[in-house]
Amino acid sequence: MLLTKEAFDEDFIWGVSTAAYQIEGAHNTDGKGLSIWDIFVKNRNKIHQNQNGDTACDFYNRYTADLYLMQSLNIRNYRFSISWSRILPDGVGNINTAGIDFYDRLIDLSLQLGITPWITLYHWDLPHALERKGGWVNRDIKEWFGYFVSVCVTHFGDRVKNWMVLNEPTVFSAAGYFLGVHAPGRRGLDNFLAAAHHAALAQAHGAKVIKTMQRDSVVGTTFSCSHIEPFTTREKDIVAAKKADALLNRLFIEPLLGMGYPTAEIKILNRIEKYMKQNDDNDLIFNMDFIGVQNYTREIVRHAIFVPFLQAKIVSAQKRKVEMTAMNWEIYPESIYHILKKFNAYPNIPPLIITENGAAFTDQIENHQVSDPKRIAYLQQTIAQVLRAKREGVNVKGYFVWTFLDNFEWAEGYHPRFGLVYVDFQSQQRTVKSSGYWYANFLK
Ligand code: NOJ
Repeated sequence: MLLTKEAFDEDFIWGVSTAAYQIEGAHNTDGKGLSIWDIFVKNRNKIHQNQNGDTACDFYNRYTADLYLMQSLNIRNYRFSISWSRILPDGVGNINTAGIDFYDRLIDLSLQLGITPWITLYHWDLPHALERKGGWVNRDIKEWFGYFVSVCVTHFGDRVKNWMVLNEPTVFSAAGYFLGVHAPGRRGLDNFLAAAHHAALAQAHGAKVIKTMQRDSVVGTTFSCSHIEPFTTREKDIVAAKKADALLNRLFIEPLLGMGYPTAEIKILNRIEKYMKQNDDNDLIFNMDFIGVQNYTREIVRHAIFVPFLQAKIVSAQKRKVEMTAMNWEIYPESIYHILKKFNAYPNIPPLIITENGAAFTDQIENHQVSDPKRIAYLQQTIAQVLRAKREGVNVKGYFVWTFLDNFEWAEGYHPRFGLVYVDFQSQQRTVKSSGYWYANFLK
């Protein structure tokens, strides 16, 4: 089947996504406060080759050329995040005008070039000043975040209509507060449960703040999700897969939809009650304008007696000897089809938008060109699966590629390259990959 844009509705939203810490650099320039990632990367052996995002793609200084490049590739929707500590160096209180100015310039130029901005309010770079007060473990974060959101809507709401409250709360609460592999590097069940509950509260609260201030806003939030299958048909593996599904796919969307936390599958989640106050059940609910779906792979899960709380573990793609990306994630485009069907089946589910999808490979530059046929195939096959779901009635309204530029991939550093555009991190030179030209042609 020849895949064309015309197979989708005319108003289907096509775009690319990025995140502040992964591309901006200028980590302590023009009055920006430090974030938990600025601090975390300075620990030894937390990040691949002890790399950091101090400079990253230097997007803070190079956004003009980058936006022109984006426009030249026919990209008309750009999802990016705002660095909280660039705007509020202490997390709350004083506003850093230079930070506001940067995002003003970014938004203005985007609009001038015919590119619609889609803003993510929290993409993991919490102000360090707030982490010192407990970060996501402190319930006050609901108010801190609400204030930050209100500052953004006040300053950018005259030009920006599309907002995403949180980026992948499961990942930042689990990796950052349970496993300690992402900033701020905290561990343990209590940290995780508190952080998760406060993120769920902030998710609904932030959305309410936007809607109250801007009635014609389009408000969503984004979730990491993977289609999950049991390793065998044994009952134990099936149970393990259900638990993993509850944790990886359902933990944040269900309370948002008024269904509460998935405690039936994961008993330990009952301990969240310790952090619940009266009315919290209600305060977790918000009727979003869309749900952001972020999908990269599927997971195969088996029973594992030694894994605390879950008795489940992922069977890696390496072990299964399947085709993988540079993240060691299985290449399995059908995953997105199953996830779309699954989410679409919730009662009263708002429209879905794929806010991230893409693949990392170890791309190389040769004769000033980057040939990445595997990425082209991945994108084509995934978009075909989105179309399949759409044709079966799933209400999916958009698709954003992760990502525009090769960038700082968190604990994996600069090694996995996800971009449509290759970045030489020494010279900061940009080279459009063949996948970038493919997407441009698809969007034409
Ligand atoms: C999810 C995250 O939102 C993004 O920051 C990350 O780079 C991609 N997925 C790829 O791992």
